Amino acid sequence: MFFKKQNKQEIDMLRIPKHIGVIMDGNGRWAKKRGLPRSAGHSAGADALKKIITEANNLGVKYITVYAFSTENWKRPKEEVDYLMNLLLDYLRNAEKTLSGENVVIRAIGSRKELSQEICDQIVKTEEFTKNNTGIVMNIALNYGAREEITNAVREICKDVKNGKTDIDSITDKTVENHLYTKGQPEVDLLIRTSGEQRLSNFMLWQVSYAEMWFTNKLWPDFRPKHLRQAIYDFQNRGRRFGGI
Ligand code: IPE
Ligand code: IPE
Ligand code: MG
Repeated sequence: MFFKKQNKQEIDMLRIPKHIGVIMDGNGRWAKKRGLPRSAGHSAGADALKKIITEANNLGVKYITVYAFSTENWKRPKEEVDYLMNLLLDYLRNAEKTLSGENVVIRAIGSRKELSQEICDQIVKTEEFTKNNTGIVMNIALNYGAREEITNAVREICKDVKNGKTDIDSITDKTVENHLYTKGQPEVDLLIRTSGEQRLSNFMLWQVSYAEMWFTNKLWPDFRPKHLRQAIYDFQNRGRRFGGI
């Protein structure tokens, strides 16, 4: 018996997950292992991300949401937060160049309130610039927290009830969905988290209700397209029942 090396051919191209969520974790540990500052890990992580987006797009994934900065990450030292914000600003600014010809639609999800004016302006620019592309939609979760997202949805729905736009008895899960940052997008099918941690850390609590979870010990800067293909392959070999039999 020979074991064939895992490759692209074995993935069923007709059953590609529509929406993949990625918790890109382990940048700090990656840097520490090399005796480098944490910032070097974040920078290597941003490089790893580019290759993953290209691969996901080539495989026909329609949506990918990447966790870049959580509502809890403000607890980190100012120096690290500033570095991350600058990296994100650069990523958005250069998206045009780095992802050129890749047809990627870039969107930022999360609260804008705490972000600098510079980042907010760049988000608007990048979203505007890529909105007519027809390839993969990349949601960058930036100052994102699922509790904030759901709380915000509740507030919006209450406002609609108060001003008579919504009747309380007509509120369904669709109503809630329509007030999330991911409005109009399919739920997450496959959730990937790197670095060996097995928790959600406030990521897409609503959208991952029926997602298949895939964990790896690889640190995010070491995550490569072959690992993404492995995750998709494993996803395709699981039985999803959604509560049925
Ligand atoms: C993930 O890597 C990136 C962000 C949270 C911004 P970490 O910075 O959390 O890396 P570790 O978990 O400390 O190794
Ligand atoms: C989750 O990673 C946030 C991002 C990847 C952006 P963290 O490193 O912040 O999560 P915890 O603190 O280990 O749960
Ligand atoms: Mg971490």
